[in-house]
Amino acid sequence: MMNQLRQILLERIGSGGPLSFRDFMDAALYHPEHGYYRSGRKRIGREGDFFTSSHVHAAFGELVAGQIREMADPFTGRRSSFWIIEAGPGEGHLAADMMRALRPVSPGDPARFRLGLVETSPALRRVQRRSLEKAGCLEGTVWWESLDELAGEPARNGCLVANELLDALPVHRVVIRKGRLREIFVSARDGEFVETEGEPVGKEIAAYLREEKIRLEEGQQAEVNLGALEWARATARVIGNGYWIVIDYGYPARELYAPERARGTLLSYHRHRASEEFYRDVGERDLTAHLNFTALIRAAERAGWRSCGITNQMRFLISMGLLERIESIAGRADVGSVRERLALRQLIQPGGMGEQFKVLIFRRGEVSGDLRGLRDPFHAGMVGVEGTA
Ligand SMILES: C[S@@+](CC[C@H](N)C(=O)[O-])C[C@H]1O[C@@H](n2cnc3c(N)ncnc32)[C@H](O)[C@@H]1O
Repeated sequence: MMNQLRQILLERIGSGGPLSFRDFMDAALYHPEHGYYRSGRKRIGREGDFFTSSHVHAAFGELVAGQIREMADPFTGRRSSFWIIEAGPGEGHLAADMMRALRPVSPGDPARFRLGLVETSPALRRVQRRSLEKAGCLEGTVWWESLDELAGEPARNGCLVANELLDALPVHRVVIRKGRLREIFVSARDGEFVETEGEPVGKEIAAYLREEKIRLEEGQQAEVNLGALEWARATARVIGNGYWIVIDYGYPARELYAPERARGTLLSYHRHRASEEFYRDVGERDLTAHLNFTALIRAAERAGWRSCGITNQMRFLISMGLLERIESIAGRADVGSVRERLALRQLIQPGGMGEQFKVLIFRRGEVSGDLRGLRDPFHAGMVGVEGTA
């Protein structure tokens, strides 16, 4: 079958010239009709291309909900709701698992929590609606296409959650040639996409690298995710008193841009196989790059967030009670329990989800930074703001 997006992009390059890699990736993932996240095909889970934690086991969402419950406790008795705003909810499993766990336990309980979902893809919004309906948590949920839609409204009390959103934002790619910063563009030759290099578009990329004191080596490639910084600013406008939980893979700047990462971190995922085939089956493969946590923390703090800490998913989930969940089914030998134990372990797998995913928590307004999920489960005390656990 002809790949229509490929055709559209080749024509766009033919008439308008090379695209920045950022614009190419934006179209590959988010073209309104043919983009990877827009076409309505199954992308996440066993039949898709990659797993997210919320597709591994519902305990992930339930334990994140436990952290949100602690965050919301000081707001008990207030008239206004405590908002949970999830950005980039995928198929809605995390939202459904969180809301199921936070549902009022008896009919007399006040509905303290309200859910808002920020999603650009109409196809995924439909899937999210079905997931929430199935979990019995659809009532009262609102959707926004972007946080900009909340611009005129008063800031809310609540918690924003972004699990694997920021790594799915389109990135600029750069390379050093003869000591100079060049940007990677996507051009076309004989009907195929080819990479070319040129002057970076705008001054922001160079300013970003300067600010982070990043010195790339000759020939070294790297990604620059300006969109993540924009999210840090946008989220700060939405929350008055509350938190932002970011769960994603990434490194501090000095590790992300270290010389041994000569080709950067951009990867393409197709049927659970990672590769560097960025231009193959365009619109049918996920593209993703690791985050620069140093830049994210700096942008968030500049926007008015305060960092509570950074830990990894293993420590976060263990602090929130994951081992007790495993323990509760330890003696059972039926297939269901064995599968469940394996899935729970996968969430905290060293070298896998447990260590690759980091959990960053930011706060704003009159709320405490002393949070259970950031306590170190192995040593007494809290994990540091700078530490990468
Ligand atoms: C990798 S998926 C997230 C997975 C999901 N959080 C989970 O737990 O399974 C990325 C999601 O971010 C959404 N997304 C990407 N850019 C967005 C944007 N600018 N605003 C809102 N959602 C966006 C995608 O459509 C998709 O739902």
